[in-house]
Amino acid sequence: MTSIAASERLTLSALLEGQTAAHLVVAADDLGWWQQLMRREEKIVPTTGLQRALARALHRFGWLAPDGDGYRLTEDGHEIAFNRGFVRVTTRGWEPTFRQIGSAAATADIVPAQTDPDAVARGCTDIALRHPETLQAIAARVAQDTEPGSTVDLGCADGGRLQIIGEFGHTEQLIGVDIEAGVIDTARERLAGLGFADRVRLRAGSVQPGDELPAWLDEGIRSDVTTAMSFNLMHQLASDGGGIDAVLGAWLDWFPNVRRFVIGDVVRSAGVQWHEQPWFAPTFEIYHELTGVRVWRDDEYADAFASLGFRVAEHLDKDHEAMMVWIAER
Ligand SMILES: C[S@@+](CC[C@H](N)C(=O)[O-])C[C@H]1O[C@@H](n2cnc3c(N)ncnc32)[C@H](O)[C@@H]1O
Repeated sequence: MTSIAASERLTLSALLEGQTAAHLVVAADDLGWWQQLMRREEKIVPTTGLQRALARALHRFGWLAPDGDGYRLTEDGHEIAFNRGFVRVTTRGWEPTFRQIGSAAATADIVPAQTDPDAVARGCTDIALRHPETLQAIAARVAQDTEPGSTVDLGCADGGRLQIIGEFGHTEQLIGVDIEAGVIDTARERLAGLGFADRVRLRAGSVQPGDELPAWLDEGIRSDVTTAMSFNLMHQLASDGGGIDAVLGAWLDWFPNVRRFVIGDVVRSAGVQWHEQPWFAPTFEIYHELTGVRVWRDDEYADAFASLGFRVAEHLDKDHEAMMVWIAER
């Protein structure tokens, strides 16, 4: 057993206060505070007793600084605000799964993932919006195609990524598919509100390959798709579906005219102990081990593209140490 240096141990204090802080970060996000505070010139002014208590607590954690009748963001607070999507996904999105573990562990090897789909969708979109340049790079590639095409987002959640692709690529047609009908409704609202209604098709259904073509895959979508993208879902689909190459291979059958895959996912990190890994990686890996889902290595994604005759045109890894995006073309 390797011992963990005292300075790297997860302390009891961090365990307890961290959980309280995470709930308060999500509450402040529900009030729209982080977004408001990130516009540097703005401060928030609490107007109720609850808001004043919340703001005082965030001040005690070091993330807000008092300023006249309100509060501004500190440097540490900026990092929290910038990454609040991770806090929402882990605190609210995955909480239903973590809650079951103790009771299931007596008899079961894994616990089925149970999520709050809206919290996962909103958190994931907030994560994506932190680095619009990643999606800008994808839109720029798509724009290089001699003929405009259609980009499908497989597991599109509330449509946040389609929104950015649509904003940068003015002629691209957009298609989104997600297994959660509720988040597809949110995506429809979001994209219609931004004026994309006439160039977006949204479908509720599974993108997990099976023996038959999925019901949502009509002939129009089949032949139109030229770019197939999927973010933060492949690890799960590949675990259930015989590997990354098997999933990509099935999608090639679904979309015969696809020129490009854009896959984004969290990769397995080299470290074992939590302090040897970038933040979020231990939580991601533990959550998936508990739910029986593999987390795949960077080279396993690269091998899968190569095995299907796709060349990695871009490998984007500036967002987070454990989050990669591959643009693979043929
Ligand atoms: C971790 S979230 C990622 C959301 C989004 N792609 C992103 O990265 O911003 C996974 C999404 O995939 C959806 N999903 C899970 N299993 C699916 C399946 N078999 N088919 C289609 N969507 C699925 C979930 O509802 C959720 O919206």
